[in-house]
Amino acid sequence: MTAQLINGKEIAQSVRNGISGEVDQLREIGIIPGLAVILVGDNQASRTYVKNKQKACQELGIHSVLIELPDTLTQAELSGKIQELNEDSSIHGILVQLPLPPHIREKEIIETISPEKDADGFHPINIGRMMTGQDAFLPCTPHGIMVMLEHIGYEIEGKHAVIVGRSNIVGKPAGQLFLNKNATVTYCHSKTKNLPFYTRQADILVAAVGIRDTITADHVKEGAVVIDVGMNRNDEGKLCGDVSFEEVTRKASYITPVPKGVGPMTIAMLLKNTVKAAKKIHKVSL
Ligand code: GUN
Repeated sequence: MTAQLINGKEIAQSVRNGISGEVDQLREIGIIPGLAVILVGDNQASRTYVKNKQKACQELGIHSVLIELPDTLTQAELSGKIQELNEDSSIHGILVQLPLPPHIREKEIIETISPEKDADGFHPINIGRMMTGQDAFLPCTPHGIMVMLEHIGYEIEGKHAVIVGRSNIVGKPAGQLFLNKNATVTYCHSKTKNLPFYTRQADILVAAVGIRDTITADHVKEGAVVIDVGMNRNDEGKLCGDVSFEEVTRKASYITPVPKGVGPMTIAMLLKNTVKAAKKIHKVSL
């Protein structure tokens, strides 16, 4: 079998076209969705992610503000800035790019963001709403994965989703979203013994580890759907995922590439959350 590519870039573009229509409608009634992005310190990868997020906002006519802060800032200064943004009526979405410097208590910072402006869906209120199947701002990467599968018409109910990686921003919420769609879910992580034993049972395999070549052909069942969330560099400095792409492609039914896979979907979902927040705050339904 040779897998079909799931073209995240194309799917993200069609999602963005839909959002663009909503932004135009909002503008007609005098509402311009606004996203504030806080970048602390000068982590190069974070800077690139933030630049891409801002560019996407500009393309759609979403107002975007970048707040760059030095990594010497204090916990109080950062939470003060967030409180300001919580009260700023031109801002509907707030995103604090992670990771934060080690002296900052990240969980407290996330809890400072108003749950109604939580463009990343990281606030415990939104995580709780997601877990209980209520309307919520969903974490962008896991949400993007679900939209990709929906786009290719893949039926999730009754399937076995195996998630490799248990971060708060990808692995854990991805498993929850699959559960919400009636999949059977298995989580694997760095302490899992005999990883291939679990991953070989996956109908849907999500690799969100951050280490290249974690998933080889030996880890994959013939015909599985493989979603690669990794963002790594190979020896030549080229972007690559967590999956050994060439060999797994020969076994899977569908696979997401890196780049042009999950990454563009994450950004599209961020735009979606920002517009959703603007609509909620202004009590508009389109
Ligand atoms: N760091 C890596 N991915 C993300 C993300 O989706 N949002 C934020 N805020 N930080 C990240």
